[in-house]
Amino acid sequence: MCGIVGYVGGQQAAPLLLEGLGRLEHRGYDSAGVAVLGPGKESRLRVAKKAGRVRDLVDQVPKRFAGKVGIGHTRWATHGPANDANAHPHVDTKGDVAVVHNGIIDNAAALRAGLAEAGVELLSDTDTEVLAHLIGLSEADTLEGKVAEALGRVEGTYGLAVLHAAYPDRIVVARNGSPLIIGIGDHEMFVASDLAALVRYTTRVAHLDDGELATLTADGFSTYRLDLTSVTRSAIDLEIDADAYDAGEHDSFMHKEMLEQPESAERMLRGRLDERFGTSHLGGLHMDARELRAIRRVKVLGCGSAYYVGQMGAGLIEELARIPADAEAASEFRYRNPIVEPDTLYVAVSQSGETIDTLLAVQEIRRKGGKVVGLVNVVGSAIARECDGGIYLHAGPEVAVASTKALTNMFLGFALLALQLGRVRDLSIADGRRLVSGLQRLPEQIGEVLAQEPALAELAGRLAGAESLFFVGRVRGYPVAREGAQKFKEISYRHAEAYQTSELKHGPLALIDDSVPTVAVVPEDELTERNVAALHEVAARRGPLVVVTHPAVELGDLPSQASVDRIDVPRNERELDPILMTVALQLLSYHAALALGHDIDKPRNLAKSVTVE
Ligand code: AGP
Repeated sequence: MCGIVGYVGGQQAAPLLLEGLGRLEHRGYDSAGVAVLGPGKESRLRVAKKAGRVRDLVDQVPKRFAGKVGIGHTRWATHGPANDANAHPHVDTKGDVAVVHNGIIDNAAALRAGLAEAGVELLSDTDTEVLAHLIGLSEADTLEGKVAEALGRVEGTYGLAVLHAAYPDRIVVARNGSPLIIGIGDHEMFVASDLAALVRYTTRVAHLDDGELATLTADGFSTYRLDLTSVTRSAIDLEIDADAYDAGEHDSFMHKEMLEQPESAERMLRGRLDERFGTSHLGGLHMDARELRAIRRVKVLGCGSAYYVGQMGAGLIEELARIPADAEAASEFRYRNPIVEPDTLYVAVSQSGETIDTLLAVQEIRRKGGKVVGLVNVVGSAIARECDGGIYLHAGPEVAVASTKALTNMFLGFALLALQLGRVRDLSIADGRRLVSGLQRLPEQIGEVLAQEPALAELAGRLAGAESLFFVGRVRGYPVAREGAQKFKEISYRHAEAYQTSELKHGPLALIDDSVPTVAVVPEDELTERNVAALHEVAARRGPLVVVTHPAVELGDLPSQASVDRIDVPRNERELDPILMTVALQLLSYHAALALGHDIDKPRNLAKSVTVE
């Protein structure tokens, strides 16, 4: 969703801001803009903004756009269409204040009406513009005071950066529910909504908590609460390789990130497996064996792919630990007034750690006294900080909108958690060791699946022609089918629908004909026979089949005219097989989208992290 960048220091701000905005493109946006404060005492605000891509903005920024303090934004339309007027930064009537904002001001309509009544001419349809006017009209004698006063009148969520011509040495930023990271350089400071925009310049960062403001000047930063009492936020050094934010020789980040999976899976497991006792080490949970044993139920919460992998995870927990476990879309959770029980372990799963629906679900649980642990990739993100404990995913930066390597590591995180919950209960040491050894084999086997890319590309090219597809699986295979369909529709824009294989004959079979392929997840397990029987029903109706399966699975005598392709993935332990099948489906989606000529990393209408409700 919307992205923010800001710079104050000794360099010209505009080139840095435009470069930073380019690195935020994966967040999803439809317009972009920058503002800088010109040099000298009579500092003047200069603004350039435009609907379209960052490169359109670059063409529009005048050569003389000097200023060593500036802010920039990529906008994802919420209030009003994507056009030049609605693009950020927004300025006040006098042209002194510039504001960029992520989030939603819930009482914007009332504030707009109040401003209009007071004679203020509003130039955009946005909620953000009210902030520029409120700050401009404030009589507080510091910029921090003006911003705090304006925010005091606002209800909603924000990540915010503000420039004011009368305070040319600073940017004031504020956060409430939308991500914002301060980057600390050498006599220069940065701010961004995503690390991707910072890492080229610094990996020393500080985070704000909700309801906090900060002033950034070339020499440092200070942090406050909304009542302007000071609060200490210390800087941390992140261990991040800036090259992780370059696609390198790959045509897309998605391709790069899929291929990184053996290595990132290895990183996830490193130091966490205990061969001797057939269990896992998860210090970040902050729970001892007694507390783990006291858990009666597990509820997993996530959105989109994180929800589907959460469903895989809940299955693993129920199977290995024999604790009732289920997954729910975090976006629905808090609206049904959920019962939060003290002996339930809530697991929030999120790559970005900033997904607003998941964050709000976590806050709701904590408000009701529940215990939440996070499976999160981005260190120090809002969800990670909000949870009581957690398991970091160590996938490294994931830039592509379509989640691949983080998702795989989420599965591994669930496997580690399930193993530990199982081993403090009735999972035998032999089974524990069996799974530890299965986990150790997984990174290499993921590599074997990835090595099938040429064959999968050929198959995907043929599948890409279908307007509509089914993805089916049963029990462990069903969330694999859901995630497979999700990935397929996200980047190929084909209608891909997931069903339990067992449900086919209760309705969807009516849609099967030779134009609707079925991608079926058929592992070698206790349900193979039933799954194969369903394939025969599809083939009898001339439905083309793509079967993701294991080498030993026999598909029987399918009708001679049936179109059947198989993708054989290596076998691991039955509990861990789902992730290998998921990786095969990632490649299938990627190559279908490629064959269709789509921009893989910027799927239409989607953003990497969804930070507004
Ligand atoms: C994944 O391919 C999707 N882009 C999307 O469903 C994503 O998983 C979801 O928005 C949750 O994001 P998160 O993991 O950052 O919370």
